[in-house]
Amino acid sequence: MNKKLIKTVSLALIASMGFIMAGCSGETAETAEGGFTTVTAGTLTMATNAYFPPYEYYEGNEIVGIDAEIAQAVADKLGLELVIEDVEFDSIIAGVQSGMYDIGCAGMTVTEERMQSVNFTTTYATGIQSIIVLEGSDITDLDSLIESGCMVGVQTGTTGDIYMTDEVGEDRMDRYNKGNDAVLALLNGVVGAVVIDNQPAQAFVAANDGLTILETPYTIEDYAMCVSKDNEELLAAINEALAELQADGTIDAIIETYIPSEG
Ligand code: ARG
Repeated sequence: MNKKLIKTVSLALIASMGFIMAGCSGETAETAEGGFTTVTAGTLTMATNAYFPPYEYYEGNEIVGIDAEIAQAVADKLGLELVIEDVEFDSIIAGVQSGMYDIGCAGMTVTEERMQSVNFTTTYATGIQSIIVLEGSDITDLDSLIESGCMVGVQTGTTGDIYMTDEVGEDRMDRYNKGNDAVLALLNGVVGAVVIDNQPAQAFVAANDGLTILETPYTIEDYAMCVSKDNEELLAAINEALAELQADGTIDAIIETYIPSEG
């Protein structure tokens, strides 16, 4: 091999290496400083369903709430711009899995079944299922709801949906894409009760006359963000940010703004 040829070959090799490297980072995601990738470079794309006060809801055209603020604080730590997409709740996990969104952040409960599809960050809040009924309803607890034969309103694909389908069967389920619409169905007598997480339940009851909340025997659920199983680096970076925000009191302060503790 003469010298010229060697030089040409090695140049081509370097060029193709560069090409392959560019191909890696350019294909689906961009590598940011922390070694993680996001769907769009410099941006943290969050999927939520913004009808879940006080975790996410509209104030004018803006989506605000506990999740929006915690995600903003995480994005700031990661040096990313937060973009929030309002989608149907039961499309969030599939969207995160397929690489449409970086995270799902939607008062989402960590469940064994969901963990088959996505990774969850550390927990930053908790919830419990509540039953909303009309004031003076004969339904006074879960057992009387089950015995009543009434239709049950839920938000599609939520834990409330999963639990109640188990309790009363498919035929008595009335599913809505927004929690608000389930509450409207209750006010209009279409369903006899709505089963939803306690904090949105309180917000809906406060916003509408004639509703009351019943407790359920269900246990506390942990809320966390979900991240694609293919993005361990982003999961680690978010967990680190969450730990810092937990340690310096930011998360508590955000929650306290929206859910003031008594006293
Ligand atoms: N915690 C429940 C679940 O994970 C309900 C969440 C609904 N969230 C929302 N943003 N609409 O299934």
